[in-house]
Amino acid sequence: MLGSNGQIGTVLAEALRNKYGSDQVITSDLRPPKHQTGRFLELDVLDKEKLSRTIDELGVSQIYHLAAILSASGEKNPELTWKVNMQGLLNVLDLGVEKKIERIFFPSSIAIYGPTTPKQNTPQFGSFMPSTVYGISKITGEMWCEYYHKRYGLDVRSLRYPGVIGWQSLPEGGTTDYAVEIYHGALKNKHYACFLKADTRLPMIYMDDVIRATIELMEADGNRLSLRSGYNLSGMSFTPAEIAAEIKKHIPDFHIDYQPDFRQQIAESWTESIDDSAARKDWDWKPEFNLAAMTSDMLEKLGPQY
Ligand code: NAD
Ligand code: SER
Repeated sequence: MLGSNGQIGTVLAEALRNKYGSDQVITSDLRPPKHQTGRFLELDVLDKEKLSRTIDELGVSQIYHLAAILSASGEKNPELTWKVNMQGLLNVLDLGVEKKIERIFFPSSIAIYGPTTPKQNTPQFGSFMPSTVYGISKITGEMWCEYYHKRYGLDVRSLRYPGVIGWQSLPEGGTTDYAVEIYHGALKNKHYACFLKADTRLPMIYMDDVIRATIELMEADGNRLSLRSGYNLSGMSFTPAEIAAEIKKHIPDFHIDYQPDFRQQIAESWTESIDDSAARKDWDWKPEFNLAAMTSDMLEKLGPQY
């Protein structure tokens, strides 16, 4: 796994280790993880030579390529974001062909949608003109995945993750990060200052559903997969005001206020809800968590920390 120390990699690596055995999963990132739970090596996805050597030496058969710079951080350094997100993926795809890697996973994002994309029930195909460098890198990445599959037969699979919410790890550098921070704020101070406006509706998904979707797609029969760009993926959709109201059912004196910053503009360029019928048809995808179920679970799991 590349970029394994982040919000999703931390949880996905553990799930894969539990499923396939600890010695079957090797994690890697720019820096060592806070808690090492299995084989780890320091690896920059831009270092193609080291990546190539590592694949040979460790006999790598599948790659989960999570390394990226996310939407909000990306706007602070567009050049580096393009380099890491684009060259990093091309290195993985090239080596995938050269080393005959059996299967590759590439997470895309709701950041591929843009101001011209239909906001409700966003279709699988349409007018996608993202306005962040992160979004541009993800939609281009999807196109490269499709190209490498068609041209070289590479078995690459991809999901357009909505904003991911989980108790196990903290997000960093994204526009949807508020939806994790709010639970920590509620438990710690009964207060959260939100960087998005009250009525900003975005597609979101609970970590359990993200991990299950990723593994289900990677295990799906390749003959059933009609897409090698990213599959639309839906979990739930809500606004900061709605998540705050749900938290108040558990913590009645919780209060939220709103201090929108530059991330508001990014959020407004994305869509509100997703049509994931292609995923449902091709590999039987079905989300399990809604806002109420997620909130109960988040507060229960995070409670002991506070
Ligand atoms: P994250 O920012 O928490 O983690 C990304 C990891 O990549 C970090 O540990 C970072 O150190 C590493 N990294 C950055 N540059 C690297 C490089 N050059 N070489 C090696 N590692 C490098 O991100 P995440 O939330 O865990 O997301 C994982 C993937 O899922 C990303 O591709 C992201 O675009 C995608 N995604 C995430 C979300 C979400 O809400 N978290 C939503 C949509 C898509
Ligand atoms: N959660 C991610 C972000 O906000 C979406 O890809 O950047």
